[in-house]
Amino acid sequence: MRGGAAANGKLQKTRKKACDILFSNSDKVWRNGSAVRRTVPSRENYTHQWLWDSATCAMGLIHVDPQRAYDEVYSVLSGQWKNGFLPHIIFDPKSTGYFPGPKVWKTEKYSPKGVLTSGITQPPLVGFSLWYLYQNAPNKKGVIEFLKSVLPQVKKYHDFLKTYRDSEDSGLLTIVHPWEGGCDNSPLWDSPLTQIELDDVLDRLKKLVDSKRSDLKIGNHNHRPQSADYHRYIYLVDLFKKTAWNQEKMVKISPFAVKDVLFNSIWCMSNEALANCFRMLNQPKEAKKYEGLAKQTRKALMGLWSKKEKLFLDVDVSHGRNKPILENTIGTFAPLLAKAVTLDQLPSLITRLTDPTQYWTDSPAPTTAVNSPKFDKERYWRGPTWPITNFFLIYGLQNYIKYPYVKKVHDTLLKKTLTMIADRGFSEYFSPFKTNGAGNSGRLGFGNFSWTAAIFIALYEK
Ligand code: DGY
Repeated sequence: MRGGAAANGKLQKTRKKACDILFSNSDKVWRNGSAVRRTVPSRENYTHQWLWDSATCAMGLIHVDPQRAYDEVYSVLSGQWKNGFLPHIIFDPKSTGYFPGPKVWKTEKYSPKGVLTSGITQPPLVGFSLWYLYQNAPNKKGVIEFLKSVLPQVKKYHDFLKTYRDSEDSGLLTIVHPWEGGCDNSPLWDSPLTQIELDDVLDRLKKLVDSKRSDLKIGNHNHRPQSADYHRYIYLVDLFKKTAWNQEKMVKISPFAVKDVLFNSIWCMSNEALANCFRMLNQPKEAKKYEGLAKQTRKALMGLWSKKEKLFLDVDVSHGRNKPILENTIGTFAPLLAKAVTLDQLPSLITRLTDPTQYWTDSPAPTTAVNSPKFDKERYWRGPTWPITNFFLIYGLQNYIKYPYVKKVHDTLLKKTLTMIADRGFSEYFSPFKTNGAGNSGRLGFGNFSWTAAIFIALYEK
């Protein structure tokens, strides 16, 4: 009893710290003469605005300061291009340290006037975030006004993705850069990235990367992607820049083109979320349209299940390929979010998740299975446990919570995620093991991370 009260006290204190982090990572930027507030992921390295980070921050902020949550969405939408595209970064022109900065992307002819952005997108989480804000807003009248003002832009983004990233109408969107998938150096991208020969990366680009990488100047090399990964990342940026950021050409010529399970599961649940918003606003035609997109993607995701491997597999579709990518990563659980897991598949996914040789570590769930030859307990998306993927797992399990064996895992993972953050702090990601062998409690990446704070608040409120 007393232990429970103490634990609760610790969680409450951590919630307070989480709010402090969100507010201290808050910036004011000027757009068309008015100030918009937004959150930078961290004061270390990530000093601009990232798309899926902001969609997540809004979900934490709604519990603390709803107007601040709405501003987060307004500010991220202020980077929208005419064609509906939402960039993964909106730069702060005053902050010049981060690489690759606006000079590398050179998108100013296409981005909104006076707004510097990248030229690729990130997992389309903003739709899900809108419905989350509606459900958790204390003042329904206020959130409805907010939704009415932002839905046209989010709808335009979804229409953009559907048009350009699923021109074949398969139900699955194509990502053209590992950064679009969000899990930058996941083993998932190893095989597709071999399409880019390192010898084909110009020396000029290699030199630029090696001399400018900001993450290595301030971060721990062992926690970050390798040099060869970065050479390929920037090769792709350079290639797309040469198409003048023409989406049709980018998809066609990119040596990296993947139908990713996580990205598409988020796409599915965000379409469902948009449908919910439109239904609530009494716009049945729009609701039907996005419900239809969600259904189509759910069905297509079901087709990514490998009976043999008992995994949902990404597919490499570059240059007409259709090659499943055989890796055991956290993405395999993402179809839970999209309600695309059948009752036959569910027990085997849960067995996999709760297997200590794969995902059920001291601090579950690592982003790559521990028994994968690619597993690396420290290196970014190749092993460490990330709060965002735990958040997805918890919400995915929630969809199947009526089954007691799922509920048990859901409740345990929720508790372990909160404890991991309360015990270790607001790092970007964590060692899946109790300590990292270096006496540093397994805190990895950059510190005082905004979405770690936001996820803590959202999960605490759950
Ligand atoms: C980075 O810089 O690590 C980002 O993930 C790319 O957006």
